[in-house]
Amino acid sequence: MKVNAKSNPNATRKAGAKPGAKVSNMAKPKGKKVNKAWLHEHINDPYVKLAQKDGYRARAAYKLKEIDETLGLIKPGDCVVDLGSTPGAWSQYVRRKLSPTGAAAGALNGRIIGLDMLPMEPIEGVVFIQGDFREPEVLQKLEQALATEKGPIKVDLVISDMAPNLSGIESADSARIAHLVELAVEFAKNQMKPEGTLVAKLFHGSGYDPLVKLFRASFKVVKPMKPKASRSNSSETFLVGIGLKTGADPGK
Ligand SMILES: C[S@@+](CC[C@H](N)C(=O)[O-])C[C@H]1O[C@@H](n2cnc3c(N)ncnc32)[C@H](O)[C@@H]1O
Repeated sequence: MKVNAKSNPNATRKAGAKPGAKVSNMAKPKGKKVNKAWLHEHINDPYVKLAQKDGYRARAAYKLKEIDETLGLIKPGDCVVDLGSTPGAWSQYVRRKLSPTGAAAGALNGRIIGLDMLPMEPIEGVVFIQGDFREPEVLQKLEQALATEKGPIKVDLVISDMAPNLSGIESADSARIAHLVELAVEFAKNQMKPEGTLVAKLFHGSGYDPLVKLFRASFKVVKPMKPKASRSNSSETFLVGIGLKTGADPGK
């Protein structure tokens, strides 16, 4: 479950952004020339500026915001599980959305559980579990966090922005990405309300079509989405699965 921070480029990210603070370097590429171009794009990126102004830890907040505002996903009282939550922008967005006044602190009408293999600076009202989602004992911790005396709380919304460290070898990377998405679908089938929704990040490439097929087999409605904040030169995209298909066996 332990992560070698040195081998993980994500580990350099600042987790506790305040308004005006540096916004997470999500997809920072390697190499001097690319870095210059990337830095230029990053500095001039309207979503980076907006995230600084709004106090989000990463520009990723606006991807979830657009998906949520398009589909009306997050409702008062919801139980939301955020997979791959660090540095915390999605959890921050959900937290504000579940606040009766849209605030980053104070009353919260709902439940949010974040999970990531990297540490995450606390967000008021968000329960955080550190660990690798692929490991059964981490999944168990997540299930424990949903347990109550009356039985497990069923989840309204699962959001997964998990992205593995990429090796550059297409087949290996596709398999890693697919594995994370498959696990998120399995979790949704087991822990979500029948009318619940899963939002999962994936990438165009050889693994894309089988994952769309998996979503279609698992959810009543499947919507591919590419929010404006997702860079056009990135193969990143999102699949939204709404309503579990009856007969879609949990865990299969
Ligand atoms: C793009 S970042 C998420 C950004 C986040 N949604 C936000 O708004 O701040 C992807 C995250 O997925 C996490 N991740 C990747 N593989 C994981 C795994 N197997 N288990 C848990 N977290 C994982 C990484 O550590 C990283 O923090």
